[in-house]
Amino acid sequence: MSSIRHETVLSVHHWTDDLFSFTTTRDRSFRFRSGQFVMIGLPVDGRPLLRAYSMASANYEETLEFFSIKVPDGPLTSRLQHLREGDEILVGAKATGTLLLDNLTAGRNLYLLGTGTGLAPFLSVLKDPETYERFEKVVLVHGCRQVAELAYHDLLTRELPENEFFGETVREKLIYYPTVTRETFRNQGRITDLMASGKLFADVGLPPLNAADDRFMLCGSPAMLRDTQRLLEEAGLSEGSSSDPAEYVIEKAFVEQ
Ligand code: A2P
Repeated sequence: MSSIRHETVLSVHHWTDDLFSFTTTRDRSFRFRSGQFVMIGLPVDGRPLLRAYSMASANYEETLEFFSIKVPDGPLTSRLQHLREGDEILVGAKATGTLLLDNLTAGRNLYLLGTGTGLAPFLSVLKDPETYERFEKVVLVHGCRQVAELAYHDLLTRELPENEFFGETVREKLIYYPTVTRETFRNQGRITDLMASGKLFADVGLPPLNAADDRFMLCGSPAMLRDTQRLLEEAGLSEGSSSDPAEYVIEKAFVEQ
């Protein structure tokens, strides 16, 4: 069995000059768990050029969805951004990753903290009914520089709450908290600053950060992960894994350097 499959691009959506999403066909044997990523790419000079991308689609959907930045001189994204419907794309056969519900111990509130394209894995987590079964509240915090970068706003504010199967649970449990750092917006500031000041917790109407009740998944730049991780460790939370579930898990947003 080949470890790379050829899929077909079904749709492409450009959010801004720097951000786009696309959907592809999905091999029937490709399985993944919400929050995982896979290697995807294109053949370049006859060889596969692959990068890690989180699935933004749910594990029960028939198609795959990915959310990407465009790096002008990025080896892969400079090419990927020109994808069109009908093009072929390479998708690895095996999904992996640490942003899994099973890597967290039981808690009351699940915080999903993502910056930029670090939102992607949380979209599959938020489309998974199990997420809402495990937690009383699910808080999605998406941090961006500009308002236009708050992709998937419509999915988060309209489609998920109106989902015919679990929309009612979403309306009861999901709190969407977008925040912007370089423009005026209703929520402003870095996720780390909003946590350190306590404003995030007050704004969403939940108690201050505490290790007994709060669980976190983080996905962002190395600097964002480092700073957020420090805040969590100071509050007494520790990093979980499949062999040793704990209070938070982290994954790099897979941005080309
Ligand atoms: P800022 O505008 O203050 O740099 P980027 O595109 O650079 O990855 O940034 C995406 C978002 O993450 C921006 O809102 C940015 O804020 C924020 N950010 C960057 N570095 C950190 C960090 N170390 N901790 C928290 N947020 C960060």
